[in-house]
Amino acid sequence: MFYRLAVVLCLLVNSVAGGFNFTYNGFRSVNLSLDGVAEVTSNGLLKLTNDSDQQQGHAFYSSPVKLKDSTNGTAFSFTTTFVFAILPQYPTLSASGMAFVISPSRGRPGALANQYLGLFNESNNGNDTNHVVAVELDTIQNVEFKDIDNNHVGIDVNGLTSKVSHGAGYYVDGTGQFINLTLISGQPMQLWVEYNSLEQRMNVTLAPINVPKPKLPLLSLSRDLSPIVNDTVYIGFSASTIAVVTSHYVLGWSFMINGQAEELVISRLPKLPRRGPEQTSKFLTIGLPLISLTLVFATVSGVFYFIQRKRKFADVVEDWELDYRPQRFKYKDLYVATKGFKDKGLLGSGGFGKVYKGTLLTSKLEIAVKKVSHESRQGMKEFVAEIVSIGRLRHRNLVQLLGYCRRKGELLLVYDYMPNGSLDKYLYGQPNVTLNWRQRFRVIKGVASGLLYLHEEWEQVVIHRDVKASNVLLDSELNGRLGDFGLARLYGHGTDPQTTHVVGTLGYLAPEHTRTRKATTSTDLFAFGAFLLEVACGRRPIEPQGETEDLILVELVFSFWQRGEILEIRDPKLGTDFVAKEVELVLKLGLLCSHSDPRARPSMRQVVQYLEGDVPLPDLSALGLTASGLTFAHGEGFDDFVTSYPSSMDKAHTHSSSIAESLLSGGR
Ligand SMILES: Nc1ncnc2c1ncn2[C@@H]1O[C@H](COP(=O)(O)OP(=O)(O)O)[C@@H](O)[C@H]1O
Ligand SMILES: *[C@@H]1O[C@H](CO)[C@@H](O)[C@H](O)[C@H]1NC(C)=O
Ligand SMILES: *[C@@H]1O[C@H](CO)[C@@H](O)[C@H](O)[C@H]1NC(C)=O
Ligand SMILES: *[C@@H]1O[C@H](CO)[C@@H](O)[C@H](O)[C@H]1NC(C)=O
Ligand SMILES: *[C@@H]1O[C@H](CO)[C@@H](O)[C@H](O)[C@H]1NC(C)=O
Ligand SMILES: *[C@@H]1O[C@H](CO)[C@@H](O)[C@H](O)[C@H]1NC(C)=O
Ligand SMILES: *[C@@H]1O[C@H](CO)[C@@H](O)[C@H](O)[C@H]1NC(C)=O
Ligand SMILES: *[C@@H]1O[C@H](CO)[C@@H](O)[C@H](O)[C@H]1NC(C)=O
Ligand SMILES: *[C@@H]1O[C@H](CO)[C@@H](O)[C@H](O)[C@H]1NC(C)=O
Ligand SMILES: *[C@@H]1O[C@H](CO)[C@@H](O)[C@H](O)[C@H]1NC(C)=O
Repeated sequence: MFYRLAVVLCLLVNSVAGGFNFTYNGFRSVNLSLDGVAEVTSNGLLKLTNDSDQQQGHAFYSSPVKLKDSTNGTAFSFTTTFVFAILPQYPTLSASGMAFVISPSRGRPGALANQYLGLFNESNNGNDTNHVVAVELDTIQNVEFKDIDNNHVGIDVNGLTSKVSHGAGYYVDGTGQFINLTLISGQPMQLWVEYNSLEQRMNVTLAPINVPKPKLPLLSLSRDLSPIVNDTVYIGFSASTIAVVTSHYVLGWSFMINGQAEELVISRLPKLPRRGPEQTSKFLTIGLPLISLTLVFATVSGVFYFIQRKRKFADVVEDWELDYRPQRFKYKDLYVATKGFKDKGLLGSGGFGKVYKGTLLTSKLEIAVKKVSHESRQGMKEFVAEIVSIGRLRHRNLVQLLGYCRRKGELLLVYDYMPNGSLDKYLYGQPNVTLNWRQRFRVIKGVASGLLYLHEEWEQVVIHRDVKASNVLLDSELNGRLGDFGLARLYGHGTDPQTTHVVGTLGYLAPEHTRTRKATTSTDLFAFGAFLLEVACGRRPIEPQGETEDLILVELVFSFWQRGEILEIRDPKLGTDFVAKEVELVLKLGLLCSHSDPRARPSMRQVVQYLEGDVPLPDLSALGLTASGLTFAHGEGFDDFVTSYPSSMDKAHTHSSSIAESLLSGGR
């Protein structure tokens, strides 16, 4: 109660023009609100960080400050000045920086150390809901924040990508000559921050303490602070350290609203601790060269290590990707999650690249990371846009795409991990692992509902382009989930329309697909038909027979159907435990979807209705189904333009199950 009253009184005082101000020449017995590793030393230095690494410290003026006019919400003019010093352990090695900050809260909850300066974290950096204005004294160059160098001053609004920044230094009055300053020199320097409410401009000026305030500011930002800052704010400092230990000090500070902050009295400021040896001794005349040598060595190897590390984990980030930050994974995180992409964690390799298992360090979420090599940057922008949009697809029968990461020559796609692997393994992988009919029928219905979602239930039509048993993954409850959707486009996108690629897998490619080079929902249905036959018969769509002609599954099923014994073609591994009506339905539906005339194929919605038994399957004989009406893109028909990728599961079937990237040049 009393506290509230005190605040109200304080606010009343603040709102008087020419009012609120304070001046501290040293912080002895000053009531600051400190957190993290910040402390006020016995001689009155504000020490924001101590010699521990990966730390942050904050010091705020303990009371809230009213920064806006209550009648019209305009931010007041204010000025502030402070003297600071950054003392790194190694004189040449950049450590992290510090900042003057205007924050809606006393402290920065949730903020990170390191490059985040104790101001923001990965998720809120750059977000307008932060209501934070800061002046950073940045001593590390972070590419992700577009830092200009490792020794600059910048004005930050709600994020660490500075609105304006400039290398540290000052303009000499009169001549206008620019003098560089080194922030980590350990020398005390003074900074002035001035905001003018009428001009709606913020100026920042830096100078060594023995130089009076230069007339020309280092930075000037034209910006109305009214919509950014809150009515009442907390003002103070934030600093953080990285592995290279550094101490950040503030020696004195003054602040005033609607007026010129009182100048600090340099002679009254507390003394900085001396770095290095206090007294010289005999030991040091011998020891010093040795220590320096070790130091140089440590510095060099430290720098080397950092460079190595940076290079090893370097992501490729381009401007257009900034909007996709939520979907982007850091390469380093994926590297850690997969324990370095070791072969031990390899789940398999497919047409597009290797797939690794991993566990995200922070969320403990199990993931599958697909490494796709890409040489060309062409079409990458469109492709990533598509990945991001695919990431928004949510369905219990789709393998969730969690995000992506890009490196030089490499694209990494991050998916939910499917503990039971891909379906083809159960159909014709190890001899002893199989699924019973009930499980198979459930997978079929699941895949159908996933494909229906892609075709009709999402905001735009998504064509899968590569439906097949090896792209169906089984989750922990043995639900079938479609994977790899849209990926086929990587090889068909952004290229010359004259040479559009046909992507898919031989045996699942509809005849009109190779003719028109256009993937449609009907071509997906054709592939789905091949998939149905595959699951019911436990055979691949095309099986090479050595000397004789390849065995074409759809033709085989058709001949069994013609003889009136369609059930006999079912997978013998099913034994006697199956529902004849369902097996027959699946086989007939498979034939119907394999019709060479796309108009004769059902839609995905109809397929789901047939499978659920809501609508009876039409009579195949009445449709005039003939053997010639079931042809599909045979391998031999376009051998000359099919390039085969090595297949994942078994090399013996490379020919039949490879992804065909067929280049149909010219009219065929
Ligand atoms: N999300 C996942 N969870 C578990 N295993 C996966 C996942 N994605 C792929 N795999 C495994 O990696 C193998 C290769 O995947 P993929 O590259 O998609 O194959 P293909 O290109 O032949 O379709 C699959 O056979 C499967 O066993
Ligand atoms: C600074 O604030 C005090 C009250 O805390 C006030 O008496 C004084 O006049 C202010 N100084 C200026 C220059 O306005
Ligand atoms: C730094 O401060 C933290 C928290 O106050 C403390 O645990 C740590 O020991 C300090 N480190 C040094 C080197 O003083
Ligand atoms: C310091 O300021 C805080 C917040 O205004 C207040 O709660 C606390 O009592 C003050 N402490 C001292 C010693 O004045
Ligand atoms: C807001 O009100 C103050 C006085 O209360 C006045 O000085 C200032 O000019 C006003 N600003 C705007 C933008 O109207
Ligand atoms: C980031 O900080 C905000 C508060 O500013 C907090 O709510 C959020 O949980 C933090 N996020 C992370 C990932 O730490
Ligand atoms: C900004 O933060 C708010 C609340 O924390 C959140 O709802 C919003 O999605 C964030 N915006 C962006 C662009 O991240
Ligand atoms: C000052 O620093 C800038 C940027 O680091 C550099 O280009 C310039 O040469 C420096 N000037 C002097 C006089 O050292
Ligand atoms: C900022 O600096 C410019 C250029 O020296 C000057 O014209 C302007 O008045 C200054 N504004 C403030 C708020 O100090
Ligand atoms: C700051 O202002 C924003 C918008 O006016 C408001 O949503 C937010 O709650 C305020 N924050 C605090 C800590 O008062």
